Amino acid sequence: MKKKLLAGLLTTAMVATMVAGCGGNTSDTGSNSSSSNTSDGGSQTVGISMPTQSLERWNRDGEYLKEQFEKAGYKVELTYSDNDSGRQVNDIQNMIAADVDLLVVAAIDGAALNTAMDEAADAEIPVISYDRLILNDAVSYYVSFDNYTVGKLQGEYVVEALDLENATTTYNMEFTAGDPADNNAGYFYQGAYDVLKKYIDAGTLKVVSGQVDFDSVATAQWSTDTALDRAQNILGSYYADGTQLDVWLCSNDSTALGVAQAIQSDYSGTNKPIITGQDGDIANLKNIVDGIQTMTVYKNVSNESVVTLALAQAILKGETIDESLCDTFDIECAYDTTSYSTTEGHNCPSFLLVPAVVTKDNLDYLVDTGLYEWDGDYLKSTAE
Ligand code: BGC
Repeated sequence: MKKKLLAGLLTTAMVATMVAGCGGNTSDTGSNSSSSNTSDGGSQTVGISMPTQSLERWNRDGEYLKEQFEKAGYKVELTYSDNDSGRQVNDIQNMIAADVDLLVVAAIDGAALNTAMDEAADAEIPVISYDRLILNDAVSYYVSFDNYTVGKLQGEYVVEALDLENATTTYNMEFTAGDPADNNAGYFYQGAYDVLKKYIDAGTLKVVSGQVDFDSVATAQWSTDTALDRAQNILGSYYADGTQLDVWLCSNDSTALGVAQAIQSDYSGTNKPIITGQDGDIANLKNIVDGIQTMTVYKNVSNESVVTLALAQAILKGETIDESLCDTFDIECAYDTTSYSTTEGHNCPSFLLVPAVVTKDNLDYLVDTGLYEWDGDYLKSTAE
């Protein structure tokens, strides 16, 4: 990748954080040699590597990204790697061999793509880390939502719903977090935990199982079945004596689905525990209508694909990339050069979109995006 040094106005340390390239490389952001650097698309091909089709959102991401890039005139290679990291390395290697001009990758395991990333760097193919950060300095930019805020919104929802500031009783709760291989999972959990810790410390909230460290509450591959099994075990071990469960904080919708199922089958209490989630998956929106799940943190992944396209175009045209990119579309987004590091000391310039809380009371928020519509009492995707 070529380097264009900012003249001595900035210190070396500032350069490392302020210009493109997560490896601290300065930019012209590495247009591939076959790039025309002028028009949109044309003969250029973008390789899009998604983790799996077994979790609803990645199907949406894949479709939106493909549609965005094709509309702008790019050819698209789209792969899903069945939650198998080895296969994702292989899929990316095939795209590199096919000489794609740019890669968009949502990693299955952020730490397991080094071989493919090193090859992308050697081939001077820019890489946009999509939604989940790849922990390798070959990554050029990161596009995601503010992941810490996702968890924070879940925690704040619980605080407000139970009015914890004024509570005179103890509420019982449990946590279910995401896949430890997914760099986002820790951010979601930390965001939620940081909000709730004060109430746990004060005894207003009690985690009855005692399981609060990330490794104990994590869910490999965000699997619904794994979340279900763990929730059944906890309910059997700690709540079978009639102990009331008030909250189950789940980091996302696939895990919330498993927890909700366990509560329906294995919880004997008559109250409806608060269950949080993230994504706005159709099955979870149905549960929200039915009062089985309480909220979800919605992330408009159609917007995420719009931002990704704009960034990819700027990279391929060799444009300077900074916060002004956010002014080119009507989507709330922040340019952040300090929150995410691919390796220690190497901050990754990131474009972070804003998540929103959705409950039974504001489901029309989703309809207003144009991506969902009412189908009787429930919502469905307008893409169906
Ligand atoms: C995404 C979430 C999603 C989870 C499981 C995370 O990386 O940010 O939106 O729920 O993966 O697919």
